[in-house]
Order: sequence, then structure tokens, then C-alpha cells
Amino acid sequence: MVQLNKEQFRGRDFLSLQDFTAEEIQQMIDVALELKAEVKAGIPHPVLKGKTLAMIFTKSSTRTRVSFEVGIYQLGGTGLFLSSRDIQLGRGEPIADTARVLSRMVDGIMIRTFSHQEVLDLAKYSTVPVINGLTDYLHPTQVLADLMTIKEYKGELKGLKLTYIGDGNNVAHSLLLGGTKMGMHVVIASPQGYQPAPEIVKMATDNAAASGGSVTVMEDPKTAAQDADILYTDVWASMGQESESEIRKRAFAGYQINGEILKLAHPEAIVLHCLPAHRGEEITEDVIEGPQSAVFEEAENRLHAHKAIMALVM
Ligand code: CP
Ligand code: NVA
Repeated sequence: MVQLNKEQFRGRDFLSLQDFTAEEIQQMIDVALELKAEVKAGIPHPVLKGKTLAMIFTKSSTRTRVSFEVGIYQLGGTGLFLSSRDIQLGRGEPIADTARVLSRMVDGIMIRTFSHQEVLDLAKYSTVPVINGLTDYLHPTQVLADLMTIKEYKGELKGLKLTYIGDGNNVAHSLLLGGTKMGMHVVIASPQGYQPAPEIVKMATDNAAASGGSVTVMEDPKTAAQDADILYTDVWASMGQESESEIRKRAFAGYQINGEILKLAHPEAIVLHCLPAHRGEEITEDVIEGPQSAVFEEAENRLHAHKAIMALVM
């Protein structure tokens, strides 16, 4: 059964990849790969026997919800799905009170919500580890699974060119932080007005200076796609931006991963998408269903990556 070196991790929050060193991210990926191999070999690993994870959702989810719930179960514990529609948080109970109450009953809290500040507040008042399952600002659990997927397909992370085409959103932010921590060359192609937040670009640039990676933010998706080892995209309108979807469709026309863009990338490039995907918008049907697409392996890896996070911090 997997041997965990939890010393550096136990009790820590998982709020942003920026809070972890390259070595720690590598360790989380290694644990995730080991847990994946054990599941495939039918080797049980109840390292969180008897532990409970509360999972607060104020936004929809398929992958994050199922992977955390199945993941904690596979680790020997139990997950509690808490929709904000049903708990008092949704009726205005303060996040600080929710944090302190849950901390007295559970061993970890995963939250998906709109405001990043709410997650920071939850972590501030919780005495158990808090895991960020997506905010408007960051999506770090996704990117840990993405880095794991890249490692599986490419054998390494350092020196690879990861090109993200589309909205400079939560996923783009976490890719910038996580990719540069690991020494990757992260290129973002987004239209003006939709580029990643300057402070994230600054942090990523500093990471890259230390890791040997680089950061490029540009407008032209074709130049960005040249020789990319990984092409990545996400929806043009994220959760909470539904009313902007028509404006965004116009702004992002041309920011689509299609056959033409794929041809510009490295011949062995893989295509990633966090899902859910809008075929015909940010990605075409032939690319997402094509031989270079790794999106379903990527989705599966959410399970293994999230198990690694829980196993280490809880
Ligand atoms: N990629 C992702 O986080 O998917 P869900 O919204 O289904 O959780
Ligand atoms: N950027 C998307 C990611 C969904 C997993 C959103 O926030 O809706």
C-alpha cells in the first residue's frame, strides 16, 4: 500500500498551487500516480479510514463532486455533499461560523464557490484543512490533475510548452501558477479584455524565473499554438457569466482549438480541456474526439489527484 510522507503536508490547506513548492507538487503527482496504479491493480488503500470530508458546493459540478466523493470513499472515509441550497450558509450564516462548526465535526472541507475571498475566509476560520474546488479566480485541483496527465503522457513537465487558448479565467490562472512552478513554458492567447489578471502573470513570471520556465501572454492564437506540446482550452463563459455568453461568443471567435490550430502544434501534442466542453465553440468535435485528445484521461485523473491531496493533508 502507498507509503505517505505527510510531514510537510498534514494540516495544510490546498487553496492555490502557489502555496506549494515544485518538489511538493511533484510529490503530490507521484502519490496520485501511485494511488492510480493501486486502484487499477485492485490494491485497497484505506489511509483515511474513519475520516470525513465536508464538500460545500454553491456552483454545479460533475467531476469535482464525484471525484472527491468517490475518492474519500476509496481512502476509507466518507464524504458529505453540502449544497448551499440546503445548508444554512445559503440562508446567510456567516462563512466564519460555518468553518468553526464544520471543523468540530469533520476532518477536511472542500469548497466550490464564486468568491475566492470566501474560500480564504473559510480557511482562516477552519481548524481542519480546506481544499479549493474552484473559485472565480483559481481552479488548483484541476491543474494538479492536468500536470499529472502531462507527466503521464510526456514523462516530464520541465521545458514543455503549454499553450492555453481562450478566456484568461480561473483555469488559466492555475495553469499559469502550476505550470511555471514546474518549469514549463506557459503561453496564453486571449483577446484584449479577457487576459489573465496582472498579479497572476506577475507571480507566474517570478515562478518561471526561479524554475527555468517562461510566461507569454499574447493575442494571436496561431502564434501561440506553434510547436506547443500541450494545447489547452476552456469554456468562453464560466459559471456565473451566463448572461455574457453572447458578447463572449463574439469576443472569442477565432480562439478555438480546431484542426488548423492543432496542425501548428508539435506533431505529438496532446489536447486538454477541463470539461465541460462546448463543442463548436472553444473546441471542435473532431479535435476533442480525435487521437491527440487526452481529455477523458485528464478527467479520470481528477479522482487520483484529489485522493493524493486528501491523503496528504488530512
Ligand atoms: N472540470 C471540472 O471542474 O468539472 P466539474 O465542473 O464537473 O466539477
Ligand atoms: N472556467 C470554468 C471551469 C469549469 C470547470 C468555470 O469556472 O465555469
